[in-house]
Order: sequence, then C-alpha cells, then structure tokens
Amino acid sequence: MQTQSRTQSTETGRLNIQPLTGAMGAEIDGIRLNDLNDETFAAIQNALYQYGAIFFRDQDFTHEEQIAFARRFGELEVHPIVNGLEAHPEIIKVLKPAGDSATFGTGWHSDNSFFERPSLGSVLYGVTIPPQGGDTLFANQYLAYETLSDGLKQTLDGMIAIHTAGPAYTSETAKEKYAGKTPISYRWSDSVHAEVEHPVVRTHPATGRKALYVNQMFTQRFKGWSERESRPLLEYLFEHSCKPDFCCRFRWQPKSVAIWDNRCVQHYALDDYQQYERLLYRVTITGEHPEPRSGE
Ligand code: SIN
Repeated sequence: MQTQSRTQSTETGRLNIQPLTGAMGAEIDGIRLNDLNDETFAAIQNALYQYGAIFFRDQDFTHEEQIAFARRFGELEVHPIVNGLEAHPEIIKVLKPAGDSATFGTGWHSDNSFFERPSLGSVLYGVTIPPQGGDTLFANQYLAYETLSDGLKQTLDGMIAIHTAGPAYTSETAKEKYAGKTPISYRWSDSVHAEVEHPVVRTHPATGRKALYVNQMFTQRFKGWSERESRPLLEYLFEHSCKPDFCCRFRWQPKSVAIWDNRCVQHYALDDYQQYERLLYRVTITGEHPEPRSGE
C-alpha cells in the first residue's frame, strides 16, 4: 500500500481513486459494481492490492449481485458458526438493532484467521446506517511488519502462531447467539475449539509483500510457547499492529460498499451508535493457506 496525499486523485486503469490516508484505503468513484467488464474488475483488484481496503458509494446491490460480484475474487465462504441468510447462506446479515450494543467485529481482527484457509477478503454492503457512528477502522499490516526493528522481524519471521475461535465464540454474549435469540445467530460447531497454525509473518500471494499476521480476537499463543510466555509479545504486537499511523476510517452511508484484503489488513467495527439501527450484508471470500514466503 502506498502513501499519497488525501486529496490526490489517481487514474489506475479506468478508476478514479481518492486515497483516504497516508497509510491505506481509497474511495473509488464512477463505478457500478454490478455491471463490470473484466478490465475494470482487474483494475479494482489491483486497487485492492495497492490500498488494502477500497470503498464505493451509491451502489445498488441485490443479494444475488453482491454474491456474483464477490465471486469474481474467488470461492465464497459459508461460515461454519455464524448463520447466513436462509436463501443465501454466503451472506451474513450484520444487523445491530436500535437500543442494543454492537457485538459483531467490535475488536481488531482479521476475518476467520482460525480457519485453515482464512478469508481472502470481504465485500460489505451498507443498507441502514446511523446518522453518526458505526464507522469501520482498518489497519495496514504491511506497515505493521515493516516498522518493526530488524531484530524483532528476524525473530518473528520463523515463528508460528496458534489461532482459535474459542474465546471469541464462547464468551458470555455468545451464549444467547447459540440460542437463536440475537439478530446475528450462531450454530454450534466443533470448529469453535479447533486450533490452527499460521505463520506470524505471511507473504501476500499477489503482492509478494510481508505482513504481520496476528490479531487480538483469534491469536492465542506462539507455537512451542505457553500462553503466559506468549502474552507479553502478543500484547506488544496487537498494540503495534493497529497504531493510528497505519489506519484509515470509513464512514458509511446507505449503499456504500467496503472491500478489504484480510491477508494484509485488520479491521474493527466501532460500537458508538447504541440508539440507532445499523444493517449491512457481508459476503466473504475464501483465502489460501498463509505462507511465510510465496511459493513455499
Ligand atoms: C466485520 O466484518 O467484522 C464487521 C465490520 C462492520 O460491521 O463494520
């Protein structure tokens, strides 16, 4: 992801791109995502590689169109724990009713890093958006890696971390979700307690760049280290990885679309709009086994 001035407009292929911050993220104008030729789609994919997260306004997506668009990036996930729509299991209805606190995605994470093949990215479509609040934050994990000292980079380069959904999907608030009492409901799956190993530093298969790949929601410990031994270094990395200098913030409107690359970006859904409803639909694309170096 490159750094560019906030106001600069760049032509990448046919796209009009407005970078959001010096660290990452860009808004793209003048595109209808439900009617794209292959050349424009390729330019969008390149913009995603360049900026880590890209955003579009005023899109008209039916569920079928959102699925068809997301499928251009790859095979789609049906989440093993979070229930999708009955007619479209690939779509998670991210609904937060007025009066409730938000609970979905309200902490820094990389989607489904507890899968053997964690998510490549997500396409999130805004429908009902609070007049203020409910923004989503994103953090550039290439920068998180690149700004570490050479010594820590060397240490982390060979390390493996254990990821699990356990703590996030068995918390107090999760109980009601399994009972079907919440707008976003869960179904029990043994995969909740599965432990999955991923390199602490992964190489992005398309850009060849190294990114830090630990997150506070799902990373439990380092392989071969106890939890107690792992905690201080993990805490340091969690704090470092989401420094404001690496971030952008997206302010939603109805019909906005956000697309992010989970292989090099973490995100965080803010919980600051209790009195308002917020409704978005998320489709998530299956990724590959994270590799320490491409091709290994
Ligand atoms: C998520 O996918 O983590 C939710 C993001 C959001 O609701 O802003």
